[in-house]
Amino acid sequence: MQPTDRLLLRALRREKTERAPVWLMRQAGRYLPEYRATRAEAGGFLEMIKEPRFAAEVTLQPIRRYGMDAAILFSDILVPLEAMGMQLVFDEHGPGLPQPLRDRAAIERLQVVTPAEAMAYVGEALRLTRAGLPEETALLGFCGAPFTLASYAIEGGTSKQFSHLRKLMYRDEASFEILMEKLAQQVERHLRYQVSCGADAIVLFDTWAASLTRADYLRYAAPWTRRLVVELASVAPLVIFAGAADHLLEDLLAMGANGVALDHRSSIGEAFERAAGRCALQGNLDPAALFASPAEVARRTHALLDEVGGRPGHVLNLGHGVFKDTDPECVGAFVRAARER
Ligand code: CP3
Repeated sequence: MQPTDRLLLRALRREKTERAPVWLMRQAGRYLPEYRATRAEAGGFLEMIKEPRFAAEVTLQPIRRYGMDAAILFSDILVPLEAMGMQLVFDEHGPGLPQPLRDRAAIERLQVVTPAEAMAYVGEALRLTRAGLPEETALLGFCGAPFTLASYAIEGGTSKQFSHLRKLMYRDEASFEILMEKLAQQVERHLRYQVSCGADAIVLFDTWAASLTRADYLRYAAPWTRRLVVELASVAPLVIFAGAADHLLEDLLAMGANGVALDHRSSIGEAFERAAGRCALQGNLDPAALFASPAEVARRTHALLDEVGGRPGHVLNLGHGVFKDTDPECVGAFVRAARER
């Protein structure tokens, strides 16, 4: 089989397929007992990411258990910031960057690096994962989009208000642009590197884009995302994710990416009408629906697939990542419902 014949890749080209390919955001994670065991063995989250043997193992765990059509490399959107010179920690509250970028001098110290040198563990984990995957399973690489990376780099962690980010954007746009330029260069290198090490397609996570009004999105985030879409068009198929971004949907659909990931609060039937064949759509079962019984999860998954109605260019997924207290049985019910079609 040619890599481009894998079901996920055919769906991203909007070819007619026998069924929709299925995978889940955060499919490798704490809801799986085998993940928790590997994490304990590795001694921590970053330790797991940086040891290719562990990263490949946890990437493969959900595939062995459920047989999704794609594996997504186990890593995090924030590791490129560490490679660029920022300190990065993960604790029970989530990610932290203890020395956030708050002025021009700090932004100027940030280095654009060569992934094959600074992040060789990513390439090695991709090669090991590919070697352990069934032939028909696609391998996804990913990166954070420049705006979302900037929000973490400036805030120093997850934020509700993004006050520091907004102050820099609005009061010192020149420094913000220097930062976005460096991040865009790093993201491009990181994505090219992952494709050169075996990723079949890539996901660009712009989790915090939807915190912006449409006007601010078009001014402060979209130009860099659009540039990446253009730069990567001949490299690999690219899917954009932007969280609860119904107000940005038209701009995302028009971006020129191969796929747009839909949040569960958007209507996928309407989104297909609005997309009008411009790109594939990924989504969009509510991750909280996996708290229902396995039978109800199957019913809701079939209802979603009925709403899509077999239109070409659908990649079945959740609207956001799997929650850590999800019953593994319910992930199974979701994947089985897709495969039964
Ligand atoms: O299975 C996969 O989806 C692949 C691996 C993956 C992780 N993070 C692993 C992870 C991917 C693709 C990501 C992307 C990511 N990371 C995003 C974008 C997608 C999204 O969720 O919006 C963001 C914003 C991050 C930053 C991040 N990493 C946060 C906010 C957190 C804490 C929240 C949480 O769930 O704990 C993380 C930690 C993280 N990244 C975990 C995993 C499996 C949990 C770590 C653990 O084992 O303790």
